[in-house]
Amino acid sequence: MKTKTKAKAKAKAYSNIAFIKYWGKRNASLRIPVNSSISMNLSSVYTLTSVEFDEKLKDDKIKIDGSISKGVERERVIKHLNRIRKIGKFNIKANVISRNNFPKGTGIASSASGFAALTVAAVKAAGINISQRRLSTLARLGSGSACRSIPDGFVEWRKGKGSESSYAYSIYLPNYWEIRDIIAIVGERKKKVSSSEGHKLVSTSPFFKSRMQFLPKRIQRIKRAFRDKDFTDFGKTIEEEALNMHAVMMTSKPALFYWLPDTIGVMNSIIQWREQGLESYFTLDAGPNVHVICEERNSRKLTDKLRAVKGVKQLIVNKPSIGARLVG
Ligand code: PMV
Repeated sequence: MKTKTKAKAKAKAYSNIAFIKYWGKRNASLRIPVNSSISMNLSSVYTLTSVEFDEKLKDDKIKIDGSISKGVERERVIKHLNRIRKIGKFNIKANVISRNNFPKGTGIASSASGFAALTVAAVKAAGINISQRRLSTLARLGSGSACRSIPDGFVEWRKGKGSESSYAYSIYLPNYWEIRDIIAIVGERKKKVSSSEGHKLVSTSPFFKSRMQFLPKRIQRIKRAFRDKDFTDFGKTIEEEALNMHAVMMTSKPALFYWLPDTIGVMNSIIQWREQGLESYFTLDAGPNVHVICEERNSRKLTDKLRAVKGVKQLIVNKPSIGARLVG
């Protein structure tokens, strides 16, 4: 940073849902994944983060959702600020204020939108000028899935060969396909093992090798479905993929089990409605909430029906969204 004055910027980044999942790292500290993944940015779940580098500060000040951040969470943010200070060749402390628009306790992960917003705001505040590809690479170092919240719309994260070539880019803009992700919140199962730790367990599952073997075909299949806007094949593929990832999780040592009874209730309803002609498919992250993927024309009907399913506490309807942006 050249000037000695205060430098401030604010960014907004949306969370994303993976259709092809990132589960397992080839390099843990650099967060290089074992496979490429494909996702969609979510219009209704986002983080707003402001970063101000201020020479008067003796320490970094980090506030998330109104509370002063402590422990591991604080260390992870500082580590990320250090990466940016290293690029900018300066050592000024920062005041970081971050807010998620989704309520805590819903089990929605904030690390993707959080680290994407932090990256864009801190890079700008530091006066660094880098490409979107490098922003994505940098966000990845904070949290893997955050690299997918940088570009617009539907995104592929290429696993890459090394750190520089492992980044996400937009495969289609948000208005390419009018699909929706209705998140059915059924509760929060407190994670005993964080996803950062969970990634390290993949190779302990006897199903991991077979997952790796089938993934390239599944990625090809989903890309074809995207190209042809073949919603039925797209849906079948994402459901198969989510169940495959959870099978690996459940058969890891120790086993990672993220579902609640109501998770299965929602999944069964989706299957049943589909048999009756109302088409939608489910996918899940490392948590109990069900992401119900449908075409826009069925969104209203599905929200009405989902509201009546046992255990559904809240519904969050998402359109495909733009990526991370600076805001005023
Ligand atoms: O970015 P992380 O370390 O929180 O991992 C995300 C892992 C999943 O949400 C389960 C899958 C994905 O690709 O988002």
